[in-house]
Amino acid sequence: MDIELLNPDRLVDWCSLIAVPPAAIPALREMAAEVSADAALLQVFRAFHEQTALRGEWLREWAPLPFDPLVESRLGERASLFYLLAYLSALPHAWQNYQRLGVSLEIFKDTMLDFRFYIQDYYDLRGRWGYAQFPWIWRHLSSVLFRLGRLQYMLIPFQGGVTAYRRRAGASHDASASGALPEILLLADPEMSLRQDGYAYGAGNPQSESDAPAAPSWQPLFEARSDGWRGHPVSPNGRAAAQPVFLPSAEWELILQRGDTVLDLHIPRADPLNAQTCGGSYAQALEFFPRVFPGTIPRALYCHTWMFSPQLQQLLPPESNLVKFQREFYLYPSPGGVGFLWSFVFGEKYPDPASAPRDTFLRRAVLDWLAAGGEIFDLPGLMFHAPHDWGKQPYYRS
Ligand SMILES: CC(C)(COP(=O)(O)OP(=O)(O)OC[C@H]1O[C@@H](n2cnc3c(N)ncnc32)[C@H](O)[C@@H]1OP(=O)(O)O)[C@@H](O)C(=O)NCCC(=O)NCCS
Repeated sequence: MDIELLNPDRLVDWCSLIAVPPAAIPALREMAAEVSADAALLQVFRAFHEQTALRGEWLREWAPLPFDPLVESRLGERASLFYLLAYLSALPHAWQNYQRLGVSLEIFKDTMLDFRFYIQDYYDLRGRWGYAQFPWIWRHLSSVLFRLGRLQYMLIPFQGGVTAYRRRAGASHDASASGALPEILLLADPEMSLRQDGYAYGAGNPQSESDAPAAPSWQPLFEARSDGWRGHPVSPNGRAAAQPVFLPSAEWELILQRGDTVLDLHIPRADPLNAQTCGGSYAQALEFFPRVFPGTIPRALYCHTWMFSPQLQQLLPPESNLVKFQREFYLYPSPGGVGFLWSFVFGEKYPDPASAPRDTFLRRAVLDWLAAGGEIFDLPGLMFHAPHDWGKQPYYRS
């Protein structure tokens, strides 16, 4: 079995196609030559290639990729470069799969751009070429995740315990009787303990018992009855209300529950976010997935990101792209922590707030907020409106 990327010319072609940083290519070529010349390394490489690129058995958990002891002993700190080359060796198979699915080369190249970002990150942090984001990139290589315009998507079953409802067309909306409920409403997950303020118990990730919230938690109730649903409504910024409501099925329909198919959204770096590019990308996704994977109809757009830390609405001005992006989604409780935001705003390079850079508005605001004892935690969110309505923040209308 020939592995195409062990051929130096083909390696350069594939790396250029997906825009691997040019300065990384000589290191990859050197690794390919070393693997080809060493029977023991080549055997491990082949076995890994067969397991991943050919049989699709990728590491799918969020855990470090286990390196073979022989690779580690032969290559030391260059072991991750060996595995980067092995992952890149799946590119021809991935492209074949794209062709089978009828997906364009442009989408292939856009999707694989994540390699470029993370290869460069690795170098910037350590001063040598390699790779660390193995648990992320298998989705790209196995045609699960696609970048369509500004954003990336994949189909997943919804795992959340919240349920979502839409007011039926024509159902009366007596604001005084219903407490001015919006047209979409989420009811809280009855299995998630909540703080007094309606966020998840444990949000903010207290580091120790003594940091743990002193206030007692409460458990939201939820009841599905033949004539409707009773539960605690969640506000669009992610807090469950203490007072339960009843949603009669004559007026409300259930539109999302655990197990339903949703589009899981990811935000690659690069260009700023705006309603036009995000809406355009989402329109593309709604056309793409049912066409490429017939029979799949996503019921909502789902996203879990540091950009949904509700505190951003206080830290940044309302016109900031991050705040506008967040307010497009209906957030719900989850016990997140500051780590998610920290890793994307400062990164591994700056673990210590005392020496973290203050060069952007967000970085200054986060550092000042944390220094003043403020908490930060991420939340998941859902979107139910159409792509052309991106920018209207419909869940925030009273
Ligand atoms: C998505 C992204 C382009 C948004 O940036 P943006 O459009 O500039 O957003 P805003 O208008 O809200 O920015 C407000 C301020 O925060 C800063 N900011 C935004 N994202 C930042 C980040 N990740 N790190 C540091 N500062 C950031 C901006 O530079 C700006 O400050 P400035 O006026 O001093 O330059 C940017 O966050 C990004 O590239 N992120 C990386 C990808 C990512 O985080 N994906 C999500 C994975 S879950």
